[in-house]
Amino acid sequence: MNHYSISRFHLFLLLFLVTDLAFAQKKQVPLKAYFKKDFLTGVAIRRNYTDGSNVKAQKLIVEQFNSISPENDLKWGALHPRPGIYRFDYADQYVDFGVKNHMATIGHTLIWHSQSPEWIFKDDQGLQIGREALLKRMQDHIETVVGRYKGKIKGWDVVNEAFNDNGTFRETKWKTIIGEDYIEKAFEFAQQADPGCELYYNDYNLYNPAKRASVLKLIKRLQARNIKIKGVGEQGHYSLVFPNITSIEKILTDFEPLGVDVNFTELDIDVLPRAGREITAEVSASEGYESKYDPFKKGLPDSVTLQLAKRYQSIFSLFVKYRKMVGRVTFWGLTDGASWLNNFPVRGRSNYPLLFDRNYQMKEAVYQAITGK
Ligand code: GLA
Repeated sequence: MNHYSISRFHLFLLLFLVTDLAFAQKKQVPLKAYFKKDFLTGVAIRRNYTDGSNVKAQKLIVEQFNSISPENDLKWGALHPRPGIYRFDYADQYVDFGVKNHMATIGHTLIWHSQSPEWIFKDDQGLQIGREALLKRMQDHIETVVGRYKGKIKGWDVVNEAFNDNGTFRETKWKTIIGEDYIEKAFEFAQQADPGCELYYNDYNLYNPAKRASVLKLIKRLQARNIKIKGVGEQGHYSLVFPNITSIEKILTDFEPLGVDVNFTELDIDVLPRAGREITAEVSASEGYESKYDPFKKGLPDSVTLQLAKRYQSIFSLFVKYRKMVGRVTFWGLTDGASWLNNFPVRGRSNYPLLFDRNYQMKEAVYQAITGK
């Protein structure tokens, strides 16, 4: 070896060591392993994550998570768009992906007021149908869908968002045509269709005492009728400061005596300013675009990433503290680029609510904050 080749050799060796070290430093314990003894870690799934076209997303999901929820493909409108017409292609693809990867595969959602076609509530002449006819449609849908995935779907959000923030019943077609007991009926049908499946009630803002009081009453009613409700889902669409940790903790302490789990089913943290209104996840809410509400178009400043990390840290500390009753924590989306919060409540903004950035990179600061590693 002459002098030149030796030094080149050493340079190569050095480069190898440095890259190797950087790789070793980057190698984190996957989330699902880190929280293994605490709760399941889940993520909301889009079609291109399960059909093989988004390989990066697919790899990350399998590596980091042990539970999945379908963002849209198991909602009534997607599955059952017209009377008697079911489209199971994407739902089957989602469930097969979960089963193949041994993930706790969640069904979301059977009965909701949104993304539910109008025909459900009408007869052939376009007139509103009555209680018995609607109950029959509800039962057929639940039997068909829950039955199809019996033994494959671990748990279903049977009813989503049945209450207003002030605790009154949301005046949906389900409620006005059937009556308040539509919720009990939906749970009964789901239980009959797959007795081994976990059943959940899912809603947002359960930190709000009036809404929570109504859900507590609902759970007691279901339990009194021997319906095995396994858990309540608090969606968890939060902001950097709202709600405070004490009010999230109140959800856990209030449901604890009823023996039900509290799962955080749609977790994300909005980092953008809101146009004045209290935070809500009411899907019909929308506001006009103004650039002052979209300050991070070019990237998230480190100071805000730090705030996000701290916020996730305090929320996850709470989850771990109540690990006995928190069954699952699911992020509502994989990457910032795929989050619904880029279009809600204002369309076309750049939001940064999740753990992975737009390039599928884990936000190190957030990971470190929630795991202490
Ligand atoms: C609600 C629903 C979800 C989803 C979000 C918006 O929280 O439960 O399925 O539609 O709104 O992405």
